[in-house]
Amino acid sequence: MRRADAADAYLEGLFTPRDPVLDGALAATKAAGLPEIQVSATQGKLLHLLARLMEARSILEIGTLGGYSAIWLARALPPGGRLVTLAANLAAAGLSGAAEVRVGKALDTLPSLKGPFDLVFIDADKERYPDYLAWALKLTRKGSLIVADNVVRGGAVADASSPDPRVQAVRRFNALLAAEPRLSATVLQTVGVKGHDGLAFAVVAA
Ligand code: DHB
Ligand code: MG
Repeated sequence: MRRADAADAYLEGLFTPRDPVLDGALAATKAAGLPEIQVSATQGKLLHLLARLMEARSILEIGTLGGYSAIWLARALPPGGRLVTLAANLAAAGLSGAAEVRVGKALDTLPSLKGPFDLVFIDADKERYPDYLAWALKLTRKGSLIVADNVVRGGAVADASSPDPRVQAVRRFNALLAAEPRLSATVLQTVGVKGHDGLAFAVVAA
């Protein structure tokens, strides 16, 4: 992966110059002792561009971690736009200007949310991805976009007999995404500083 890492550094130099707010979120993630597993800079920029392309006014993020991707998404919103992000803990409390951070188990918070959201980004505990997809469908409208991180897991998702419950849950998620008649979806594999993984994209078509 060394060449992929070097290429990511090169691409970050071009497309995602150092940014004190984003760097602050990375530092807060580290200081809180959270795993440094947020999306890469170029992936964050992709989320931002997708939200802009959607002209999203309301975004739901399931899985805040230290708030890194939330900042990318929030920056795509017009004045008066809304980002709700579901956090397992208070590590991203500093986000409160840009986003409504809801602390607690996502499955406890989701029933209280009022949609529809224009974009939903799923990036929380992998075991619950199938449940998060069901909620994303409830909380979107025709034309909304659903994006999910970590749907390839180093290629492990291709192994139907994987003993890893996260891999099995992501396999169920991918199968649901593909079979859901309301969605038109695809998965793009990714390489770089986050290793080999993938992002799922699904348009709510009906
Ligand atoms: C893990 C979670 C993520 O969201 C990610 O991008 C990478 C790894 C994890 O739980 O291991
Ligand atoms: Mg992730």
